[in-house]
Amino acid sequence: MKCLVIGSGGREHAVSKKLAASPLVEAVYCAPGNPGMKKDGIRLVDLAETDHEKLIGFAQTEGIAWTFVGPEVPLLNGIVDDFQAAGLAIFGPTKSAALIEGSKSFAKELMARQGIPTADSQTFTSFSEARTYIEAKGAPIVIKADGLAAGKGVVVAETLEDAVNAASEMLENDRFGASGQRIVVEEFLSGEEFSLLAFVRDTEVYPMVISQDHKRAYNEDKGPNTGGMGAYTPVPQIPQSVVDQAIEEVLKPAAQGMKELGRSFTGILYAGLIATTDGPKVIEFNARFGDPETQVVLPRLKSDLAEIIDRLLSDKPIELTWETEGCRLGVVVAAEGYPGTYQKGTLLPDFSSDTEVSVYYAGVEEESGDLVSSGGRIYLVEASGQTIEEAQEKIYSVLKVKNTDHTFYRTDIGSKSLMPK
Ligand code: AMP
Ligand code: GLY
Repeated sequence: MKCLVIGSGGREHAVSKKLAASPLVEAVYCAPGNPGMKKDGIRLVDLAETDHEKLIGFAQTEGIAWTFVGPEVPLLNGIVDDFQAAGLAIFGPTKSAALIEGSKSFAKELMARQGIPTADSQTFTSFSEARTYIEAKGAPIVIKADGLAAGKGVVVAETLEDAVNAASEMLENDRFGASGQRIVVEEFLSGEEFSLLAFVRDTEVYPMVISQDHKRAYNEDKGPNTGGMGAYTPVPQIPQSVVDQAIEEVLKPAAQGMKELGRSFTGILYAGLIATTDGPKVIEFNARFGDPETQVVLPRLKSDLAEIIDRLLSDKPIELTWETEGCRLGVVVAAEGYPGTYQKGTLLPDFSSDTEVSVYYAGVEEESGDLVSSGGRIYLVEASGQTIEEAQEKIYSVLKVKNTDHTFYRTDIGSKSLMPK
């Protein structure tokens, strides 16, 4: 069969590569994709992820068996609804189900309804009411824009002043436009973060192995929040009992609640969790795979991803098998200045003879046959190892000898798992 993947980042590169490895798959197309994907035989389709009509036309003309949606924006634009209305198979939540990611206040209501553990919070549209609440609760406290903000709509405020400023920026100064005209003010949770993703079909939940992202730009979790600077799996400092608790108390009741609310969820459900002393608590839901988590989680999947999606779309049960030995680690190489302003057009090194690592491309374009940078997160280097140290050694020894001018990467991805508890 032929498959179509929507999106253009490292996550979509990892999904496309995994699909291309399936004996069931004749060709993988990615719209719009990026030129770095071509080394893995992925075919690029020059159509925007927002152009549903043309994408539907392409899927019909090419005889695409089904489409997989990577990013949240097309999901919230209703790409799944539009493909289904055209009689095409597509894997991902409908617009109404994607609201679990598209509105933090909706996600909070769902969690309250289902008794899902999460930080205490209140939702505001009025700045003066928000300020009164923030002052009553005290710092640290977390201020979140309700809608999509490309991972930038969360302020973890250490002081009351920062918290009130963040609320004012969002509610009074339209910092995130419509996304920030409603805010969620949330209790600060302390503990280790982890990402738990699952294939979900209506109320059936098939959890994946957990992973840990690194949101801050610099070593030791310093610097501004980014889309994610690296990830690894498994996360040995999170006990399996905590993961099991999250599956039972978070993922399953979330899927059940969505169905009861008439927003039945089929797709990838992502729970961002903090392991607190009171057990795992939700800090966010996403309606899609995580980036960069996918680039380490999917390489650990031994099952055929194309077969899994195909079976999910045909109402058949699925079974997931994973590598049980060793680990997977991924390090993002980003443009100097990211997540602020940065240069484009940096010539990227060639990794074709580095057989110990895999490279997943994101912010890249082609210039006279060469790959050059075009985005903040440029590529991710992934490796497996018996231990985190072994995977780190494989990745960092390659990066050390490459030309990484005008770019940077964290040198401590995965190191948290090595610290004594
Ligand atoms: P998000 O964009 O929702 O993933 O939030 C960005 C980051 O803010 C998370 O990865 C956490 O590190 C932090 N964060 C979000 N909510 C909380 C919370 N309630 N308590 C502590 N940290 C939080
Ligand atoms: N890595 C965080 C996310 O994909 O939202």
